[in-house]
Amino acid sequence: MQIVTARLRIDDLRPEDASALFAYRSDPEVARYQGWKPSALADAERFIEAQKHVAPDTLGAWWQRAIRLRDSGDLIGDLGLHFVDADTVELGISLVPAQQHHGYARDVLELALDFVFGGLRKHRVIASADPRNTACVRLLEGVGLRREAHFRESLRDGEGWADDMLFAMLEKEWLVPADTEDR
Ligand SMILES: CC(C)(COP(=O)(O)OP(=O)(O)OC[C@H]1O[C@@H](n2cnc3c(N)ncnc32)[C@H](O)[C@@H]1OP(=O)(O)O)[C@@H](O)C(=O)NCCC(=O)NCCS
Repeated sequence: MQIVTARLRIDDLRPEDASALFAYRSDPEVARYQGWKPSALADAERFIEAQKHVAPDTLGAWWQRAIRLRDSGDLIGDLGLHFVDADTVELGISLVPAQQHHGYARDVLELALDFVFGGLRKHRVIASADPRNTACVRLLEGVGLRREAHFRESLRDGEGWADDMLFAMLEKEWLVPADTEDR
């Protein structure tokens, strides 16, 4: 998934991205509702090195993509595609705080849906979000994912428990978005 749009470039994470990746992924604001939080630059370096060995559609694997500003090539975030099984892909996304609220995440998720449904011909996309992560919930519903489940206190969160919401979209919903059906 190497894509260039009017504003963005989506391609491989590179070794020289390690410090930028560490900087925003270790930022408490970015890491608050995320599974992975690097505690040292070496974690980010290892993460990028490990990605060299992950091919798209590798069952069980997370395949991470770099999100860059098209012109400068600056790393502003990352997109994760988790090949849950042969038919289902889970999506995850993180942006540098200064690059949020520009619509970049929306652009990237729409490209990811095109790639997963149009390119890989998958049946189902899912994404999980902590209900307190309102920007994430707004983003997922904004690109057309449906709220499918709300699991109460299902995830460990430090000393306590956190709720987890599941969002999903089927290929047929991507093909015919809900708001066009009654036209
Ligand atoms: C989840 C996350 C990626 C969402 O980022 P975001 O900036 O809210 O989402 P977008 O990039 O799509 O930007 C949408 C916002 O940009 C605004 N915007 C500005 N210019 C825009 C444009 N050209 N096109 C579309 N929206 C635009 C929209 O109005 C919207 O504003 P709002 O947030 O006030 O509603 C971000 O909060 C994040 O990285 N969080 C930390 C990691 C995390 O929790 N990830 C969970 C995975 S979902």
